[in-house]
Amino acid sequence: MAREEWNSQLGFLLAAVGSAIGLGNIWRFSYLAYEHGGGAFLIPYIIALLTAGIPLLILEYGIGHERIGSAPLAYAKIRKNWEWLGWWAVLFVMFGIVLYYSAVISWCLNYFLLSFNLGWGDDPDSFFFKEFLRVSESPSEPGEIRTPILYGLMVVWLISWAVIYRGVQRGIELANKILMPLLLLLITVLVVWALTLEGAMEGLKAYVTPDFNKLSKPEVWIDAYSQVFFTLSLGFGIMIAYASYLPEKANITRYALLTAGINSGFSIFAGIAVFAVLGFMATTTGKPMSEVVSQSIGLAFVAYPKAISLMPGGNIFGAVFFLCLVVAGISSAVSIIEAFIAALVDKFGVSRKKSATMISVLGFLGAIIFTTQGGLLWLDIVDHFLTHYGLIMVGILECIVVGWLFGTERLRRHINRVSSLNIGIWWDLLIRFFIPMILALIFIGDLYTELQKPYGGYSWTSLVLIGRDWLMVTLAVAFLIASMPWRTGHHKLEGRSSIKKD
Ligand code: ALA
Repeated sequence: MAREEWNSQLGFLLAAVGSAIGLGNIWRFSYLAYEHGGGAFLIPYIIALLTAGIPLLILEYGIGHERIGSAPLAYAKIRKNWEWLGWWAVLFVMFGIVLYYSAVISWCLNYFLLSFNLGWGDDPDSFFFKEFLRVSESPSEPGEIRTPILYGLMVVWLISWAVIYRGVQRGIELANKILMPLLLLLITVLVVWALTLEGAMEGLKAYVTPDFNKLSKPEVWIDAYSQVFFTLSLGFGIMIAYASYLPEKANITRYALLTAGINSGFSIFAGIAVFAVLGFMATTTGKPMSEVVSQSIGLAFVAYPKAISLMPGGNIFGAVFFLCLVVAGISSAVSIIEAFIAALVDKFGVSRKKSATMISVLGFLGAIIFTTQGGLLWLDIVDHFLTHYGLIMVGILECIVVGWLFGTERLRRHINRVSSLNIGIWWDLLIRFFIPMILALIFIGDLYTELQKPYGGYSWTSLVLIGRDWLMVTLAVAFLIASMPWRTGHHKLEGRSSIKKD
């Protein structure tokens, strides 16, 4: 069966941008910028983008296109005994990240509905933790399933399933052609509206005023590199699979620059709406900015609802904001699931439709743990381990397998042959030395902090059983799947650069 292909360059780009722009762009970026020196944070962020984000994106696009395969197939075609790395990435992303990611999208969907009558009441803080999530004392007490979250979760998986079921062109490409312009429209409405609010300028000042002193702190740099890694969906196996659906004629370097540029532009733009609203709240309540700003979950589900309640027409503003999160989240969730489906289809030749259905049901069932009262605590632990250790480890190994075993020079030749913008030897140096070194430093730094004191004040038992073992179990399954025979002959096919493999 012929490999599926994108219908157009634009379709591919929108799908890649849809994967990159996700929940992280709207709340995580804005908060990091504020926390780490305002406008000055753009310096480490852009340096991280240029020295790691874009070069790695070029690598993932390049290897997916050259080897014509999802992550496991691409690695198997480089060295048979590295196939497991591809499986590990798509496994912990599919049976890890997207499970809690979909639960958070379900929260957003619930909050979208709550917005219309400001259903969080006068105290959004206690509403969120005590009424909506009913968070339990510890991860070992999952408690009951929260039905509104379960219903939302069902909707999220149903939509994702329907998109993936219809395939690359009629599903993923079409969905992103609708969702991305919609997202741009919604965020523009929010930015313009937010800028008209009283105190908006105060907020913007807090967002962009540079504090260069912060740049001497190592955690600012670690956060910049981690954010770039997560936001470009690197190490997920997504960009490899998406690039494998490109035709022979594919302007790899240009696509990488465009994806990264649009994704970061969106983050910076969304930050304007986030901070203008916080400035409005500080002015209205007479509190300093530092008191109204909070991070990640607290920003979207506590600080924002508070501000929305104070705003004229806030219910509509709230609905638009949460709809933005739902749209950004679903297009990223779809890409994660697709990375896994692509791998199954490549190796076992199973039908897309059947595997999409089976995997969506499994994904939905797996995500249920995150809809329980212990869900938030589980989410916190799993997210910490998967993004801090899993993704970083995949990134390091990816640089080694592609950079050293396949050879950056060989990949660079292929990329330059098909791209209008050529990359030079600097790219080889970044992939072979600089990026693995930076990622290794982040890994060691995280591990060191981890061993000093248990993450988030959880018990060691919870951290080991939920966090570490999540990685271990997916790793074991990755080895198992990699040891199974190929049902298709894809792993024997040559890559596009048609140089004989050793
Ligand atoms: N890249 C996606 C995000 O930022 C996963 O949420």
